[in-house]
Amino acid sequence: MNQPVNPSVIKVVPPDYVKNTQLIHWVQEIATLTQPDHIHWCDGSQKEYDELCELLVKAGSLKRLNPAKRKNSFLAWSDPQDVARVEDRTFICSKHKDDAGPTNNWVDPDEMRRTLTPLFTGCMRGRTLYVVPFSMGPIGSPIAHIGVELSDSPYVAINMRIMTRMGKAVIDLLGKDGEFVHCIHSVGKPLLPGEKDVAWPNNPSKYIVHYPESREIWSFGSGYGGNALLGKKCFALRIASTMGRDQGWLAEHMLILGVTSPAGKKFHIAAAFPSACGKTNFSMMIPPKGFDGWKVTTIGDDIAWIKPRKDPVSGKTRLFAINPESGYFGVAPGTNRATNANCIDSLNQDVLFTNVALTDDGDVWWEGLTDTPPAHLIDWQGKDWTPEDGKSGRAAAHPNARFTMAAMNNPAVDPNWDNPEGVPIDAFVFGGRRSNTVPLVTEARDWVEGVYMAATMGSETTAAITGKVGVVRRDPFAMIAFAGYNMSDYFQHWLSMGKKLANEGAILPKIYLVNWFRKDANGKFVWPGFGENMRVLSWILDRVAGKSNATETPIGNCPSYQDLNWDGLNLNTEQFEDVISINSDDWRAELEMHNELFEKLANRLPQELLETRKKLQERLGL
Ligand code: OXD
Ligand code: MN
Repeated sequence: MNQPVNPSVIKVVPPDYVKNTQLIHWVQEIATLTQPDHIHWCDGSQKEYDELCELLVKAGSLKRLNPAKRKNSFLAWSDPQDVARVEDRTFICSKHKDDAGPTNNWVDPDEMRRTLTPLFTGCMRGRTLYVVPFSMGPIGSPIAHIGVELSDSPYVAINMRIMTRMGKAVIDLLGKDGEFVHCIHSVGKPLLPGEKDVAWPNNPSKYIVHYPESREIWSFGSGYGGNALLGKKCFALRIASTMGRDQGWLAEHMLILGVTSPAGKKFHIAAAFPSACGKTNFSMMIPPKGFDGWKVTTIGDDIAWIKPRKDPVSGKTRLFAINPESGYFGVAPGTNRATNANCIDSLNQDVLFTNVALTDDGDVWWEGLTDTPPAHLIDWQGKDWTPEDGKSGRAAAHPNARFTMAAMNNPAVDPNWDNPEGVPIDAFVFGGRRSNTVPLVTEARDWVEGVYMAATMGSETTAAITGKVGVVRRDPFAMIAFAGYNMSDYFQHWLSMGKKLANEGAILPKIYLVNWFRKDANGKFVWPGFGENMRVLSWILDRVAGKSNATETPIGNCPSYQDLNWDGLNLNTEQFEDVISINSDDWRAELEMHNELFEKLANRLPQELLETRKKLQERLGL
């Protein structure tokens, strides 16, 4: 429904099916503040999606791709000033600074509201306000939660339809008095009467603001990804992590995958990796030679919501996880048939591409898609591009170029990906990008040691993230940019959940630290990665089932060469040593870095982590 609005007397008239008075009053309040020309209540239908895509094509914001190549798919090119999440413009405005902690940007909430109110006043003039109701998780699932995003971006509305369960069904579930997270988004570019819009409106001044206590998100000035699709990082991680702390559950930056053995036994793994460590690839992995009959299926590629519940099978409490999203917003560059065939097969239809290059026959291309680039492209900034440009370092696709695709289009999607009950987690896996120090895989001896491993996780930066290469950045639980509260309290929440569940006799997942990125003396990756990671995964699953061996080391339990299945891979014992060895000098430096992190987080740091560090130091003889 599309309602015209006269800015001087905005009176919101919702469709008949909207009964939630809180929602109606809030839309009224935000419309009065932002003064849009129209209000559009999204019903989530295919017809609405098609019409919005058409509108964006007419406005020059989307290009329809050649349907013979990519059916019902589109390409957007953003403003070069608006190409990624803006961590330095992301704020956690809790009442008390200590509740945001030293890893978040904090501003007093009253002060932030004083800053934002003038920015949002009239910011939607000349535009349509889209009311986007969405469920994070299967509609009605006991693990799911609802949000409503008010956005002046139709690009956001269509992306949200892929990334979340969006539309009328959510309004129906909200009923008269259902609760929802309030998400307000504006590209921050009001139009004067008669002013022509640009293809990618945005504002040089950007604010991505979270008020954890009132569960609100206010985003201004960006139309890109996690800055604008507020269900993703803002709600599903930053706000949801505070909900989880208060309500006894976990909102994590984790993929979820299912693994089925040839005998038909099914396991579920939740795995946290910092950005740019191949999470999407891992979640869609194809088992390699030597693993006939094994199957890997995807439940989620980025975020997991995890709640404890009695398992009807074992009668014990277990952690059950859902993917709160219903689509993948993945990084395109580097994706190809060798690195992720399932992903390539997912991208044939119904995809929104952002900032990849356009081929002469109306298809898309990005660095790494094929070994040989096409002879001519239009790059992500709309300029002619030839392989000569590539040689001189000008990329055709932006390094953070993305595809938005429906989970349902993934050929490896798990039959339970949409199950409202979630799936029981058998193991948590954490892993960063480390060219040395951290072994291929280490099993924590207990929950506390696992929390320590995850809390001290580090990852080397890549050009795509910071421009600097190879600097180790501590990224606890891969949540450095996403924990909506004090990181030390977050560690405590994990420790407390573990203790409480253990006291209740729950079956707790085992915890592992992995590293696919060790390099040899010549600076070459030793571990082949991608599908071959299945070898590590199957060792983990055998450990969970109590079947495989491990050797105790000072930092945890590691496999010996003979403990892994090498069928189909030629990796000799020396190469294995290169990826599994523990070097005292490296670990001396590593523990120093753990210390630096702990000093930064000292204020509320759980004592148990300091004790674990001390034991680690003693075992290493340092
Ligand atoms: C993402 C990220 O986009 O983690 O998923 O940066
Ligand atoms: Mn992510």
